[in-house]
Amino acid sequence: MYWKQESFNHLKKIVFDALEENSSFHDHSIMGLPATYLDPEIFPADAPFLCDSPYIKCFIENPNHIGLHTYHTSLPTFKGTQSIELDLLRICAEEIYKAESGEYDGYVAPGGTECNIQAIWIYREYFKNKFTAKTNEIIVLFSEDTHYSLYKACNLLGLDFHVLPVNNTNRSIDYISTEKILDRLISRGNKYIISIANMGTTMFGSIDDVDALSALYLRKKINFKLHVDAAFGGFIYPFSNPDSTLNFNNSNIHSISVDAHKMLQAPYGTGIFIIRKNYIDNVITKEASYVEGHDHTLCGSRSGANPIATWMILNVHGSEGIKARIATFIEKTDYICNALNKLNVRYFRNDSMNIITIRSEDISEDICNRYTLVPNSHTESPEWWKIVVMDHVNWNLIEKFISDLGTYRERYFEVSAA
Ligand SMILES: Cc1ncc(COP(=O)(O)O)c(C=O)c1O
Repeated sequence: MYWKQESFNHLKKIVFDALEENSSFHDHSIMGLPATYLDPEIFPADAPFLCDSPYIKCFIENPNHIGLHTYHTSLPTFKGTQSIELDLLRICAEEIYKAESGEYDGYVAPGGTECNIQAIWIYREYFKNKFTAKTNEIIVLFSEDTHYSLYKACNLLGLDFHVLPVNNTNRSIDYISTEKILDRLISRGNKYIISIANMGTTMFGSIDDVDALSALYLRKKINFKLHVDAAFGGFIYPFSNPDSTLNFNNSNIHSISVDAHKMLQAPYGTGIFIIRKNYIDNVITKEASYVEGHDHTLCGSRSGANPIATWMILNVHGSEGIKARIATFIEKTDYICNALNKLNVRYFRNDSMNIITIRSEDISEDICNRYTLVPNSHTESPEWWKIVVMDHVNWNLIEKFISDLGTYRERYFEVSAA
């Protein structure tokens, strides 16, 4: 994985050149699009700071990246900024996730939720188109630690799902139970699996074992497609764990999605969806006849500024800069875990991830609320509380948290951190 670090001024020039290449609502003859620049009362296009703010400039110009730009045609009006989106997809697909050049499709979706729905939608249609599968022959499989967007996806797409149990301590999928579940599903008529594997579950940051899952499907000779939900871990795990095999070198992985608006500190609206070439054709909406290239996405219109923000962040740091940033998150997470070990506080943590999920019996609710830890449930009494280590979780905050937790543990558990 390697891409160069570029200066802000260099990136700024590329973005301004791309905006020049776009047709601007200000000075081109655009009469047919139901779109324009942002309201000038609120977003003045001539504010002096804009010449140094390529993202905000692009936001105000308001290019629409509707459709899919990895496809052979798309709306030419915004081709300048679309080419930046294509370069963003190249970095993610080829550099981070090891896809072959040009062997993928993708787009910048509103977020991880849409990416998951998009993946399941594509595979449902793929099974129907290629194998005349009936809806009730398709089953979506995911672990109990999987994000709730998968339940939404199955509900919206009218698909049956089965939740795979995980071990309560190490959070790994229970493959013995999964094999039994699979046998039952096959005997009741399920022939096609849409499998979701997590690169960082929301609550635990746990990583699913794609090889174990796919080996099971292959052994059972069942037709499957596997989507990796890397919404949370996708900009951490490949950087903190260079040996990761959760990428397109693994022929059992068909699509990956990753949120830039989580670990990459990009604005909301930057879920990156990448899928092996041609699968996405299963969801082309031909009725989008007035959109050049039609539409393959769930959302339709989407902001051209969002891919610009993400592309600039990746390039201003370069791959080495992102690695260094993730290394500081991991260092802080290690430090907190060491302190928890000394205080006999039980928790789950994957060594390459920046989430620590603490057993509720070992911490007071008052401390959790004071430091805005997130519980696994707001409706029942929580079993777990999580810490996500990011830029704003600074050393000062960490020391205060450890000190408060130490005082609590000494008072109620007679544990000394000394
Ligand atoms: C693993 C995982 N998948 C999907 C999502 C949904 O992402 P978004 O909120 O961007 O739609 C999240 C959000 O926390 C997540 O952690």
